[in-house]
Amino acid sequence: MTTAPSAPRPPVRGAASMTSVASRTSGPSAPSMSSVSLPGPRAPLAPGALAARAAPAGAAGPAAASALAARGTALGRADVEAAAARIAGRVRRTPLLPGLPAPGLHRTGRGLLLKAEHLQYSGSFKLRGAANAVLALGARRMVTGSSGNHGIALARLARALGAEVTVVLAGGAHPAKIAVIKALGGRTVRVPGGVAERDARARELAEETGAVLIPSSDHELVVAGQGTVGLEILAEAPDTETVYVPTGGGGLLAGVCLAAYGHPVRVVGVEPAGTPRYARSLAAGHPVRLAPGDSVADGLRGQQPGAVPYPVIRDRVDDLIAVSDAEILAAAALLRRRGVEAEPSGAVALAGAIRAGRGSGAGTCVAVVSGGNTKAALMAAAAAAPPSRTHCTT
Ligand SMILES: Cc1ncc(COP(=O)(O)O)c(C=O)c1O
Repeated sequence: MTTAPSAPRPPVRGAASMTSVASRTSGPSAPSMSSVSLPGPRAPLAPGALAARAAPAGAAGPAAASALAARGTALGRADVEAAAARIAGRVRRTPLLPGLPAPGLHRTGRGLLLKAEHLQYSGSFKLRGAANAVLALGARRMVTGSSGNHGIALARLARALGAEVTVVLAGGAHPAKIAVIKALGGRTVRVPGGVAERDARARELAEETGAVLIPSSDHELVVAGQGTVGLEILAEAPDTETVYVPTGGGGLLAGVCLAAYGHPVRVVGVEPAGTPRYARSLAAGHPVRLAPGDSVADGLRGQQPGAVPYPVIRDRVDDLIAVSDAEILAAAALLRRRGVEAEPSGAVALAGAIRAGRGSGAGTCVAVVSGGNTKAALMAAAAAAPPSRTHCTT
């Protein structure tokens, strides 16, 4: 593969206009990533297709769930707008924190802003997608596979709605995240292996028990809910030139891509160098599955792109950047010095912004600080959770 610049950008971006993604290699510690050429042209997504067919907020149970399953992945910005209306009372509109001076970042415009999802209820953006799915489906018995934050968000919602949730966790899941899920009354199931095994077990449990499966990223309603992060950024800072988004399963990146349809903002996904599933998949022209990989960013260890986020990202993302564990930890330390307590996954986008910003004349940029569930924050959350009956835990 040869290294080439990204395709020239049209003044206003819409669905299916993307033709190439270049993974950046700037900076002395850049891992060797090649540019990614995407096959084109691509079939346009039908913006708003899901919203047009969405069940009304609160619609109940199996009928709504099976209708959703037949809808495919034809998502658009209108679906994100519908999600914003649906979840408005359940999620926090988080602030855009002012410019962050960071070593090596060339600052023009308003500099680098931080979308403060570490201040979201439940400690991460995951509450948005979870709330959109739970409310739209009227789910009262749920099952999911999660690295922790999506499980915490679902357990919080389940408690508020008088519902039940079972969270399947893979080996290596953060013990303090498991403790918060339990403290909120969630049932936990642990499985050996990686994210693929975890998600397979969650699917089996849904089939065996009839509980509604609410995946952590690979679901239309979850993606649309995560997209409200992007809507809020572009409403508050319409001059944003580039938004950096941490990328695991791809739900958040796909959601931000949807929110960015029709806006000239550059959307850049940031993956840990050990799990570059989107960069590899876009290079291959189809989703590829990686062997389980490790990263300090425990929320970003997924092995393959989700079927729902993949085409959305393929058609809209401008760039993918890989960052090392050292860069992620340095970004988290920088945030901490500025009074922002981010968990490692929550610092990944900033690490990408710093890497990309070296030597470039970036205008107003936004890095999504996607989570603040540090060990200290989780211990406080577990202690603060009102007493509950934990259903059954393995
Ligand atoms: C804090 C945090 N940031 C980012 C991500 C990645 O999100 P996604 O799976 O939607 O790509 C996760 C996933 O668990 C997370 O917990």
